[in-house]
Amino acid sequence: MDNPKRAQPIGVFDSGMGGISVLKELYKIMPGEHYIYFGDSKNAPYGTKPLEEIRRLTIRNVEFLLEQGAKGIVVACNTATAAAVRILRTLHPDIPLVGIEPAIKPAALQPGHPTILVMATPMTIQGKKYKNLMANYEAQAEIIGLPCPGLVEFVESGNTDGDDLRAFLENLLAPYAGTIDSIVLGCTHYPFVRRLIQEIAGEHVQIFDGGFGTAREMRRRLEEAGLLSENTKDGIVTFENSLAKEEEIELSKTLFQKKTHTFRINY
Ligand code: DGL
Repeated sequence: MDNPKRAQPIGVFDSGMGGISVLKELYKIMPGEHYIYFGDSKNAPYGTKPLEEIRRLTIRNVEFLLEQGAKGIVVACNTATAAAVRILRTLHPDIPLVGIEPAIKPAALQPGHPTILVMATPMTIQGKKYKNLMANYEAQAEIIGLPCPGLVEFVESGNTDGDDLRAFLENLLAPYAGTIDSIVLGCTHYPFVRRLIQEIAGEHVQIFDGGFGTAREMRRRLEEAGLLSENTKDGIVTFENSLAKEEEIELSKTLFQKKTHTFRINY
């Protein structure tokens, strides 16, 4: 018998606007699905908060999305994934639940022992998950972690190309000029400033992010569970935000339309 849950939305959340970069990838490969996106902008950024607080917020976000009828959850936040994905899987063993982690693998598998700069929140860089990921690829690549406190706030305020943001990024990336082959965007907010990062780092630097891989994994999990939608029309995307202000919803929609140039690679 067919599963009526197929028609329910996919729940996606982040500390704020960043996860919209993942939502875009989900929508591209599963356009018939409905989505409910929750941005916890009231509590952003997560990446500089204590671990227990990130866990508490993350657990609450998942409960909210399940109450809204989500059939599966995408943790569209590297920080929340690093802090809580294991706990979430224990709490909700029957729900397809996919997290995101820095796309170190495809960057490290590039030929010639590349030097890779991983830009992420302080929490992600300090986490055990990141350390394990780094250890897995240290034979193939030189991997440098760069915590970027302050960068999320630019995107949260809708600033993705201002002069102040350019100065911030130039300052952050200056020590690595001419020494790196790739940059991994290890926070879902960063694809929105990808163009500036590329300009500052130089065209020869290849940029990776985990959005597409995460979307593909969610599609696989839904298919496995018999939960892929059979809808052939465009799915509906609903934006919710903990600040509950019209500006936040408008910014969410603007970012959803914005081009993020995701680099596609099979891995
Ligand atoms: N977008 C998030 C991430 O992928 C979190 C940013 C933050 O709130 O610090 O890590």
